[in-house]
Amino acid sequence: MTRTEQRNDEQQNDEHPAASLADVVRRSELILTCGPGGVGKTTTAAALGVAAARSGRKVVVVTVDPARRLADALGLDDSVAADEPHLVKGVTKRATDGELWALMLDAEQTFDRLVREQAGSRKQADAVLNNPVYQAISGSLSGAQEYMAVERLHQLHVSGDWDLVIVDTPPSRHAIDLLEAPDRLVGFLSHPVYRALTVGQRTFAKITDAASSMFLWAVKRLAGPQIVEDTVEFFRSLANIEGGLRRRAKEVSRLLRGERTSFVVVSSPRAEAVGEAEHLLDAIADKHFPLGGLVVNLIHPLPLELTDDDEQLLSDLDDGPLAEQLDWHRELTRLATAERNELVTLEKLAGEAPVIELPLLDVDIHDVPGLVDLAARLV
Ligand SMILES: Nc1ncnc2c1ncn2[C@@H]1O[C@H](COP(=O)(O)OP(=O)(O)OP(=O)(O)O)[C@@H](O)[C@H]1O
Ligand SMILES: [Mg+2]
Repeated sequence: MTRTEQRNDEQQNDEHPAASLADVVRRSELILTCGPGGVGKTTTAAALGVAAARSGRKVVVVTVDPARRLADALGLDDSVAADEPHLVKGVTKRATDGELWALMLDAEQTFDRLVREQAGSRKQADAVLNNPVYQAISGSLSGAQEYMAVERLHQLHVSGDWDLVIVDTPPSRHAIDLLEAPDRLVGFLSHPVYRALTVGQRTFAKITDAASSMFLWAVKRLAGPQIVEDTVEFFRSLANIEGGLRRRAKEVSRLLRGERTSFVVVSSPRAEAVGEAEHLLDAIADKHFPLGGLVVNLIHPLPLELTDDDEQLLSDLDDGPLAEQLDWHRELTRLATAERNELVTLEKLAGEAPVIELPLLDVDIHDVPGLVDLAARLV
């Protein structure tokens, strides 16, 4: 059976919505982990990859900035070329297992590939890619990292090589940037300054649009005439592939809303993170992106509930040798309870999607056994 036949076969068996992350991992073709900074998105992406591979699928995890030790666990050390999928060892051993591959996103190579694909000729592509302005700004274009992450997702998906592509989001100021990346690209192509810069030479001379002439005047003052020429040239060359870029942005946008796509929102119970995750869940629902699940990571486990008798017994111990442990227990209970209260609205916003709480572990997750353990907790 080919991969596509297998997918169709699976599709017919799975009409109902996912009830658990195990379902999500088994059925999705694309998973995006997103959420506030530092809550465990990269770790969750890797652990979902482990779970999927161990359920027999051929998975690639596209990661952006794994912590050094997680990168090592995924075999993504300096000797591995960026942008190349790399088989992760030690995850899949049984005959029924699939494969876990990891890939470090390289935004520049992803854009190069996009330009070459969309350009009518090699010359057109070179005109964009060799332009000094492109070379200067390609790494730092605002929102470019987010767009390249979803663009790479699209490239890997259409290659047909993978059952599942998991994309970890770049640490951005706003998690929501990822959802809006394709629309931003289209917005950029429609911006008056961009439009003015890309019209033909003669029309260009006649342009009196205040915004663009001010812009050019300012750039000329600040950076000299050569950079203006290069900039105009860059936008002109980009105009050759504009149709292609627009089409692709639409396709990516559609793919992100596809039936086989799942967004997994990761948060911690900390108030700032919860606020941002709530905002993100709202946007996901609003813009009709498919939510696969909510992971609340780094949560303090709720200690055992005490009966009145227990409390009485413990209060007798207050002055004894266990007083310190007792205080500690009370502090943990207070913290864990406060965290639960913080999470009520967030978990409601997840609606029907599965919610998984992951404890704050006392060790960093930085090796394959750590990921296997986390994968088991997730699914
Ligand atoms: N449940 C957990 N218990 C203990 N440590 C954890 C847990 N989950 C993640 N960590 C650790 O927290 C750190 C941050 O995790 P990670 O890099 O996955 O976060 P992130 O959301 O991707 O961050 P960024 O926004 O910077 O990309 C890592 O060192 C990771 O090992
Ligand atoms: Mg990360």
